[in-house]
Amino acid sequence: MNDILPDATPRWQYLEAVTRTVLAAYGYREIRVPILEKTELFARSIGEVTDIVEKEMYSFEDRNGDSLTLRPEATAGMVRAGLSNGLLYNQVQRWWSAGPMFRHERPQKGRYRQFHQIDVEAYGLPGPDIDAELIVMLARLWKCLGIRQVELRINTLGSPEARASYRDKLAAFLRGHARQLDEDSCRRLDSNPLRVLDSKHPETRKLVEQAPNLLDHLDDGSREHFAALQVLLDNAGVSYVVNPRLVRGLDYYSRTVFEWVTTRLGAQDAVCSGGRYDGLVAQLGGKPMPAIGFAMGVERLVALMEEEGVPVPDTAPHAYLVRVGALAERAGLQLAEQLRETLPQLRLIMDCSGGGFANQLKRADKSGARVALVLGEDEAKIRQVGFKLLRNTTEQVNVPWDTAAARLAPWLE
Ligand code: HAM
Repeated sequence: MNDILPDATPRWQYLEAVTRTVLAAYGYREIRVPILEKTELFARSIGEVTDIVEKEMYSFEDRNGDSLTLRPEATAGMVRAGLSNGLLYNQVQRWWSAGPMFRHERPQKGRYRQFHQIDVEAYGLPGPDIDAELIVMLARLWKCLGIRQVELRINTLGSPEARASYRDKLAAFLRGHARQLDEDSCRRLDSNPLRVLDSKHPETRKLVEQAPNLLDHLDDGSREHFAALQVLLDNAGVSYVVNPRLVRGLDYYSRTVFEWVTTRLGAQDAVCSGGRYDGLVAQLGGKPMPAIGFAMGVERLVALMEEEGVPVPDTAPHAYLVRVGALAERAGLQLAEQLRETLPQLRLIMDCSGGGFANQLKRADKSGARVALVLGEDEAKIRQVGFKLLRNTTEQVNVPWDTAAARLAPWLE
């Protein structure tokens, strides 16, 4: 679990602001849901035999003896919120939500126990056009953020029935070659054989190459849906790789699944993943309703932007107000407020640490400000202020208070 320090937050804020604008352009509205939910909600939606539910959840009993869990992901809570507020039945919703998620994983670069997601979900839309639009929207988001080095992988998991029959064939094949399987994959043979497909173990990977292919066992509806999605992506000029071994670590998916990966971050290469989960709403007690969504890993995207050299927006103050003397101290507060009133985008720090001109100007310089506003007793008396450029050697000039804002304006980018 990390502290995200003030030096790092400008990048986070930039990512969040750009994402919010792009999501609004596609009609997505924000929903805020609790960080704690009943443990049972996650067990029923993510799946009892997934890594998340089996070994990664932060669960505890509250004072009433109810088992609660710090959310490991946002989808289940958003569906729960939609159902408990009557917002899903017979309706179309486009929602996003952002915040911390918790998984007790083995921490490493790009994998944390508290991490942040921006999660986007669309309810009530069965066709491949919304699958395509979500992906196109992400391609636009990467462009707006200045991220270039990501690759899209897509797959389809078919209908639950087609998947169940494929699952049996796969399990039979793997059982026949059990000696080549790594320990983890052996354990998954009975409980969740599909996860063997995305094993990172070299021997298992070799075996998986020869395993029956999910794409050969699809139902007609899913095959058509997947083909239509690819046509839409081709038309939109979004490139992708079909990866028949892309399965997801959560059980609620059916049909389309996708992942954006990068080679720039090491082993934890997925920056955004999601897919369709047409069965989940009914599974959690609602009327059947199609749904699709994804979540972006904010830490990983921030790291990728850093890695790719995307410039950070400047958050240094524009101006730094130096006040020396009792009268100047009082008047300075007034002047600062007057400037902030006239220039709402102005970032102005008023020195409150005391000391003489030299000390305060040293702090002004260190703050990164471009302009020092210098107020001594003499200036305060006649309502003037010294205007001193800190990044070159031009002389300080004194200007009346009511022209100071106009003089500062060119220094706000
Ligand atoms: P997920 O693949 O488990 O899917 O997580 C989505 C993204 O969150 C990943 O691609 C990754 O970028 C980030 N992430 C996951 N675990 C960690 C971690 N321990 N540390 C840092 N980043 C992490 C879901 O959570 C689904 N709810 C996505 C979804 C929404 N599907 C449909 N709607």
